[in-house]
Amino acid sequence: MQGDAIGEVVLSNDPSFKPGDLVQSMFGWREAFNASANKVRKLETHGLPAEAFLGVAGVPGLTAYVGLLHIAGLREGDVVFVSGAAGAVGSMVCQIAKLKGHKVIASAGGTEKAAFVRNELGADETIDYKAVADLTGAVAMAAPEGIDVYFDNVGGDHLDAALANAKTFGRFALCGMISEYNVASPQNGPRNLLMAVTKSLRLQGFVVLNHLNLQPAFAKDLATWHAAGKIKWRQTVFHGVEQAPNAFLGLFKGKNIGKMLVKLS
Ligand SMILES: NC(=O)c1ccc[n+]([C@@H]2O[C@H](COP(=O)([O-])OP(=O)(O)OC[C@H]3O[C@@H](n4cnc5c(N)ncnc54)[C@H](OP(=O)(O)O)[C@@H]3O)[C@@H](O)[C@H]2O)c1
Repeated sequence: MQGDAIGEVVLSNDPSFKPGDLVQSMFGWREAFNASANKVRKLETHGLPAEAFLGVAGVPGLTAYVGLLHIAGLREGDVVFVSGAAGAVGSMVCQIAKLKGHKVIASAGGTEKAAFVRNELGADETIDYKAVADLTGAVAMAAPEGIDVYFDNVGGDHLDAALANAKTFGRFALCGMISEYNVASPQNGPRNLLMAVTKSLRLQGFVVLNHLNLQPAFAKDLATWHAAGKIKWRQTVFHGVEQAPNAFLGLFKGKNIGKMLVKLS
């Protein structure tokens, strides 16, 4: 199973690596492997815990940064709605938007996640989507003025609610649609895509790997925010390679707060 991983060099015949060096790889779920030196990247942690480079300082953090600032093109005064807000990507979207002074409406499943998003990440309005019968109505209550930016991690009924509550010329960053990954055919919407026409919305999907040129800018901003004590993160850790399938499937049941990690050995 492919996936970003961080590990420690045990032995190397390449002079640029020594035992104990941390390296990042894409060899996925395995406790040990042999690889050419050019297939792993040496990790400089700059004082952060190594596992942060799989979450807040890694691909999820960069995804939030790219989607919010460059795909949605966040502008002064924007009201931001983000789904999957307690997850790895969503929790960074909340914080970046708050750092830049925006009103944030955040949706997550369950009271514990809603409390995390409100109390630790600073969202102005939270929606426990599992506890509301009418998601569109709940977004309307949280943002009576309408939303300018929607950061979509979920798709389906969340996208439906965002379309219904968008202001004219709203911008949507389509990052993920986890509610749709395992269904044979889309069942939960959106049923109101016509709103994109009538409200002149811009909906843009993106894959972070096509925006790696923004990594240096992200690293610089993150270092500034972190040094000022303004970035918080949580992670959920499953232990042992045999737990990897449970961790993966747990993503679809909301078993994680923050980044889902597996400590392989
Ligand atoms: N475009 C890109 O380049 C890119 C890069 C990385 C990730 N992604 C996407 O970004 C999204 C977030 O990724 P992540 O790594 O940060 O995951 P995550 O949010 O840490 O974990 C997934 C979360 O999705 C929520 N979820 C699962 N099934 C759901 C459903 N049916 N309806 C609503 N929410 C549901 C759960 O939270 P609740 O308990 O709140 O339901 C779960 O904890 C995913 O869609 C992922 O595929 C895209």
